[in-house]
Amino acid sequence: MRRYSMLERLLFPSSGLNEDKLIKAISGKTILVTGASSGIGEQIALLLGKYPVHLVLVARREDKLLAVKGQIESNEKTQITVVTADLRRDEDMEALLDILREERNAPDIVVSNAGLSIRRSIYDSLDRFHDYARTMSINYLAPVKLLLSVIPVLERRQGQIIHVSTINTSLIPLPHWAAYQASKAAFDTWFRSAAPELNAAGIAMTSIYLPLVRTPMIEPTAAYRTAPAMSPEHVARIIAKSMYTKGRTWRPWWLFTGQAASLMFRGLWESWMPRKLRKRRDSHGDA
Ligand SMILES: NC(=O)c1ccc[n+]([C@@H]2O[C@H](COP(=O)([O-])OP(=O)(O)OC[C@H]3O[C@@H](n4cnc5c(N)ncnc54)[C@H](OP(=O)(O)O)[C@@H]3O)[C@@H](O)[C@H]2O)c1
Repeated sequence: MRRYSMLERLLFPSSGLNEDKLIKAISGKTILVTGASSGIGEQIALLLGKYPVHLVLVARREDKLLAVKGQIESNEKTQITVVTADLRRDEDMEALLDILREERNAPDIVVSNAGLSIRRSIYDSLDRFHDYARTMSINYLAPVKLLLSVIPVLERRQGQIIHVSTINTSLIPLPHWAAYQASKAAFDTWFRSAAPELNAAGIAMTSIYLPLVRTPMIEPTAAYRTAPAMSPEHVARIIAKSMYTKGRTWRPWWLFTGQAASLMFRGLWESWMPRKLRKRRDSHGDA
């Protein structure tokens, strides 16, 4: 695991995971993790794989899922079910839902983590409506479909849904991220709207609002390579902790300043940003 810089230690202080409480909360439970082949989902699987739980790990890349399974199996405490599925495809989703309907695979905890990000300007997207379709499909429609199907079993088991979200849903939307941000905001709104009803039925609902996390997702964006970022191992500990605290949200301590600035300086931002983009366009021919 990469060591944090001084700034990162300040921005992302340690989250103090209590192993005894975690074991008490999750022992014997079935935990579904979507997007378990890489980044945050992989680290959640590796962390939970130290304990006596049944993990149902889902993603498209079977070789990666099997590699994660291989690392966990050496611990011999965990039962693992690997499901290879493209959650945007109806047939794959239905096959996964069939597996989850079997009592031995029925989840107590769902970590809704699979996601796709796209950074592209509107002018580079004029003939790429499919970018909007695929981000909505995996970041919004797929988790909604999955959760609608497992809500009855989660109610019966008084379970938990943990949603891996982004701080961007609470901040001024950034240019070039329209497809990603709109789809993450759509699911965040669905989740927050559904939460009171599901809480009333005894299902815990947890939203994890993440800043930048150093995973393969951010690799294509050059500007993020040197920016402060959390490690996926740290995020996995925060998610594991939420399995015994059952907190409604986790967000970095400094997010409130960004939210306040987003409200106060919206007008300023909206007049300054076009000028900045126009300058860049004039000098680089960049949209
Ligand atoms: N990295 C960040 O800075 C950051 C910040 C805030 C929030 N998040 C959120 O964190 C979550 C995890 O992202 P990450 O950073 O760990 O990225 P990642 O390393 O790219 O992992 C994404 C995971 O989603 C899976 N996935 C993508 N499309 C899928 C599909 N159609 N069907 C099934 N699985 C699919 C991928 O597996 P396959 O490719 O094998 O299918 C992979 O396991 C995402 O929801 C993301 O929006 C990330």
